[in-house]
Amino acid sequence: MTALLPHVQSFLDPATSTYTHVVYDHAGGRAAIVDPVLDFDARSGRTAHTRADEVIAFVRAQNLTVDWVLETHAHADHLSAAPYVKAQVGGKLAIGGAIQRVQSVFKTLFHLEPEFATDGSQFDHLFADGDTFAIGELTATAWHVPGHTPADMAFVVGDAVFVGDTLFMPDVGSARCDFPGGDAHQLYQSVRRILALPPQTRLFLCHDYPPDTRASQPMCTVADQRQGNIHVRDGITEAEFVAMRQARDATLAMPNLILPSVQVNIRAGHLPPAESDGHHYLKLPVNVF
Ligand SMILES: [Fe+2]
Repeated sequence: MTALLPHVQSFLDPATSTYTHVVYDHAGGRAAIVDPVLDFDARSGRTAHTRADEVIAFVRAQNLTVDWVLETHAHADHLSAAPYVKAQVGGKLAIGGAIQRVQSVFKTLFHLEPEFATDGSQFDHLFADGDTFAIGELTATAWHVPGHTPADMAFVVGDAVFVGDTLFMPDVGSARCDFPGGDAHQLYQSVRRILALPPQTRLFLCHDYPPDTRASQPMCTVADQRQGNIHVRDGITEAEFVAMRQARDATLAMPNLILPSVQVNIRAGHLPPAESDGHHYLKLPVNVF
């Protein structure tokens, strides 16, 4: 039943260094879209669909039926294009069940409207650790991989894993753990779980932030990470990782788009309700973050 070599096409959003992946069983078959990006210009407050339209054009050119639109987590660095993608090509929108905790935290921090639901009901489906689901002929498994945020998921599809914000390329390391509910101990355990997969397993990344000496890459293998990851290769203990991660996180600035991103992404990519003039507004909490 499980095709061991799913097809994967990756799309880079250079503005946020984010990868969107399309995983599918075969041309003319079934697909899932992982982490679609909405263009957002913070200076003007304008959105656009340039990146999502590239993904949609590929889906249509390959004659794919979209079963799922998957979010690895509530991203803090880009707005999700999931509602737009769903409207264009369909699919059930899913995220990890711990999104409820993320929604509760940010409902308070952004002082959202009382009606804002913190039960994840803005999404079509919430995954628990170990849940399996079909992408056509492929069988996928959802893994809860907390650490960067409490709700991070990885999606294991045959020999391909969509790792979200856990690992980056070996020369870049690992995701930060200093957002609300982040935990470097948990991230270490999540990463080691992923790295226990067979060495040739393909790891598809949510981001790459390459040095000038190489081009951006969407994928590497478990073997690459175990040998060379600067933060969490084989031999680095949990205590060493946590000390490194916490020291490094203390030096990092907030992501450029964290405030708009979180407000939209905890609503499953929808803008806040329109106000009485018909426009949507995002908040800028002062001295909160
Ligand atoms: Fe993230």
